[in-house]
Amino acid sequence: MDKILIEGGRRLVGEVQVSGAKNAVLPLMAASLLVDGWMTITNVPQLKDIDTFKILLRHLGCEIEADIPAGILKIRASEVKDAAAPYELVKTMRASVLVLGPLVARFKKARVSLPGGCAIGARPINLHLMGLKKMGASVTIEHGYVTVEAKKLKGAKIYFDTNTVTGTENLMLAAVCADGVTTLENAALEPEVVCLAETLNKMGARITGAGTDTITIEGVSEAELKPAFVRVIPDRIEAGTFMAAAAMTKGNVLIKDCPFRSLEALTVKLREAGTEVAEEEDGVRVTGDYPIRSVDVKTLPYPGFPTDMQAQIMAMMAVGNGLSVITETVFENRFMHVGELKRMGADITIDGRSAVVRGVRGLSGAPLMATDLRASASLILAGLVAQGVTEVSRIYHLDRGYQKIEDKLKALGAEIQRVKA
Ligand code: EPZ
Repeated sequence: MDKILIEGGRRLVGEVQVSGAKNAVLPLMAASLLVDGWMTITNVPQLKDIDTFKILLRHLGCEIEADIPAGILKIRASEVKDAAAPYELVKTMRASVLVLGPLVARFKKARVSLPGGCAIGARPINLHLMGLKKMGASVTIEHGYVTVEAKKLKGAKIYFDTNTVTGTENLMLAAVCADGVTTLENAALEPEVVCLAETLNKMGARITGAGTDTITIEGVSEAELKPAFVRVIPDRIEAGTFMAAAAMTKGNVLIKDCPFRSLEALTVKLREAGTEVAEEEDGVRVTGDYPIRSVDVKTLPYPGFPTDMQAQIMAMMAVGNGLSVITETVFENRFMHVGELKRMGADITIDGRSAVVRGVRGLSGAPLMATDLRASASLILAGLVAQGVTEVSRIYHLDRGYQKIEDKLKALGAEIQRVKA
């Protein structure tokens, strides 16, 4: 397994290009199951999760053509075998459950392994299944698989007790060709949900309200749906990770193609911490300065502070000038990075869903182990400012969501390299 080595202490200076958003590509790949014909997706990043989804779609019988360096992905779902989304794929990538909605909508049946838990929490799919049942599907769970069947899904009024991103996306995909109108209430507002809705409308769907907490989908006939050509939106979490890196290293970085509008909550916190964040012609310039002021952070569903940036901001607060309370309200166990940051000298105490971070003068490099995607990003950030060498192992977690992060950081002046274990 590869490792990443970092010699801390270098300021990041220069420009970095944000890649396409992983969490927008995955539902778009699922949307290709709705139509017979080549769906074309561009600005696709080279990520492990996208490779996993390709394997899943091929397993289901889809044809896939990819020009990886060019970021172009073409998918055709003419025939789909009566295959299941197997456990060995779903357990590595929970987003596999996104095939449920389109498969049952078009092929009347879907079998998907239950995702099981993951490092950051139980991550059930009960709300996905609740919505499909309301749309008239039969749902049976046995031997760790869920089977969903429906001759024809019908429009329904669905209320989400909890804000769920892929739950909103899955039911939107299911509702596109349902009989009648479906409303999703307390729906997720994420930009990735909007990207999916806009793409489905380009395909012939009739969706309104995406980006608000009430989304209405008026069912259309399958014949009205056509494949689309879509360019994926930039990845706001990758952009946010580089913003934090520039801030922590007291750098000066222009983040190109930065989805600034969707990073409002993070920008407010970075500015409170003393970081300069300025919108320019072709990107957002982030300039870090002494001291990093300690700020409190509470993660919330979009447009609140993103849970996917919680580990990264904690690495920054670890070298803040005071006390920071970081509260994680979205996932029940998303503090796996705390133990590793403490091994670098961070002073962090977990109290239920909050972590109390007392800033220290500096961190020291250490051998670390990544546990999940965003935790590994926070360890890289901490390594950038630590004294000495930091070694992060199990970086396959990192490769799920960051395209060659070490190359991008090296181009900004970081002393970083990937070593084959
Ligand atoms: C999406 O996951 C993202 N993944 C996650 O990004 C992100 O952290 C998360 O949304 C929250 O923003 C993709 O979009 C592929 P949820 P998702 O359903 O949809 C509970 C990353 O780092 N819940 O919004 O799986 C759930 O347990 C990944 O890129 C239910 O209880 O998250 C959690 O506590 C990590 N029942 C909360 O809702 C359900 O049926 C939010 O989960 C569904 C969810």
